[in-house]
Amino acid sequence: MTTDRPLHAAGSGLGFSTRQLHAGDQSDAQHGSRTTPIFLTAGFELDDFDAAGALFSGERDGYVYSRHGNPTAAAAERRIAALEGGDDAILVASGQGAVAGALLGLLNAGDHLVASASIYEGTRGLLGEHLERFGVTISYVTAPHDPAAWEAAITPSTRVLFGESIPNPKNDVLDIAAVAEVGHRHGVPLVVDNTLATPYLVRPLEHGADVVVHSASKFLAGHGSVLGGFIVTGHGFDWGAGGYPQLSERRGSDGRTAVERHGDQAYVRYLRELVVPRFGAVPSPLHAFLIQQGIETLSLRVQRQSASALAVARFLEAQPEIASVDYAGLDSSPHHAVAERYFTAGYGSVFAITLAGGRPAARALYDALEIFTRMTHLGDVRSLILHPSTTTHVLRTDAEKREAGIGEGLLRLSIGLEDVDDLVADLERGLAAIRALGSVDGDAVGSPFDDADPTAVTARAVAEPDPRIAALDRIAEAV
Ligand SMILES: Cc1ncc(COP(=O)(O)O)c(C=O)c1O
Repeated sequence: MTTDRPLHAAGSGLGFSTRQLHAGDQSDAQHGSRTTPIFLTAGFELDDFDAAGALFSGERDGYVYSRHGNPTAAAAERRIAALEGGDDAILVASGQGAVAGALLGLLNAGDHLVASASIYEGTRGLLGEHLERFGVTISYVTAPHDPAAWEAAITPSTRVLFGESIPNPKNDVLDIAAVAEVGHRHGVPLVVDNTLATPYLVRPLEHGADVVVHSASKFLAGHGSVLGGFIVTGHGFDWGAGGYPQLSERRGSDGRTAVERHGDQAYVRYLRELVVPRFGAVPSPLHAFLIQQGIETLSLRVQRQSASALAVARFLEAQPEIASVDYAGLDSSPHHAVAERYFTAGYGSVFAITLAGGRPAARALYDALEIFTRMTHLGDVRSLILHPSTTTHVLRTDAEKREAGIGEGLLRLSIGLEDVDDLVADLERGLAAIRALGSVDGDAVGSPFDDADPTAVTARAVAEPDPRIAALDRIAEAV
């Protein structure tokens, strides 16, 4: 027998650190386990015939089957809702599952979605390859910091605006309030991926966003051991005003629509009861527990990682081998002013550097590092480094990469919890390796496989498909 602890934090007035430890806890009244127990079970015993019917008809609350809800997941859901200032939250199996679930609950064939052009590659693939296949049209806003550009992209069929609070790798932060205001004027909700910022740095719902999604695999878990995702919802959006017939016209077994039953909570209830269980991106209760454990130290980690990232970015900005540093925390960033309006406790720990020496320099630095882990992940307690052009963005054409500002000399860094001096020393080792190369040419966007002469290999790659493409296809869109 377990009970919810009385300290339920949404609107409690408690501080962030207190909430990240206590909100949503589920204690174990039978044995006194202080941490939420891991309810590793597929289903839940039904007391008797009538109780089973009451649970299935919704007359009684309770757990039935873990694809529809699990107490360990519910504890993590209550906690993230409290931290984001949301009314409700749903834990799913991955960040990709969260983005897909949130959008599948909103969109129908014939609808239109407007997205920032600065979004995670996996999301871009989901939109352009899969949602389009199901009859949804997509427009990208290439100047996402300009509210007028969002407004110009909206059509009568637009049902969702989608952006990321801190996009990776360019750190071109979203003006959440301005974009939400544009959406609301047209009766369209704003969905914000808050993975890189976390609710410690910014809470998009407080700035007018309607839905927040997360890859919990990153900062929320922090330890880099599991995958997970959250969909967090706010209140006040009018789902009955038209455009969402699944909420305002589809009638359930009691003859009522989701809007009639749940008002402004219609969307999240539809997601929880139908969309998420049917598309099946269900988290393991063990992963729910590990994500909950991670969240307990979120503020400490993000505070330290943000401070270290700023120190490392400042060091890198001063190095002659570095052409530019894309970090919104730097005064030199064109996005610093917007970032300052939204972020009061730090600017996050993921950013990009572009090496003046292009791909050869990127390769030399990358391979010389001893403390940074070469890995396609971010928000980990360990510092990580990645070359997007040949990994996450390898499926983009050279022109698309150029437009997105992803050159061959660009490396993405995710700063962890190591001592800053050790990280700087590691990067100095990388810079020394670049100097050892002698003089190299400027930043060329060529074939992803070239390391000596970009132009020559571009021609060869077109003539004969490189077998390594298949291998890279498999990992592209990872983080
Ligand atoms: C911003 C962002 N959103 C979503 C995802 C997808 O998350 P996951 O890997 O947990 O599916 C990622 C990374 O993978 C990401 O960086």
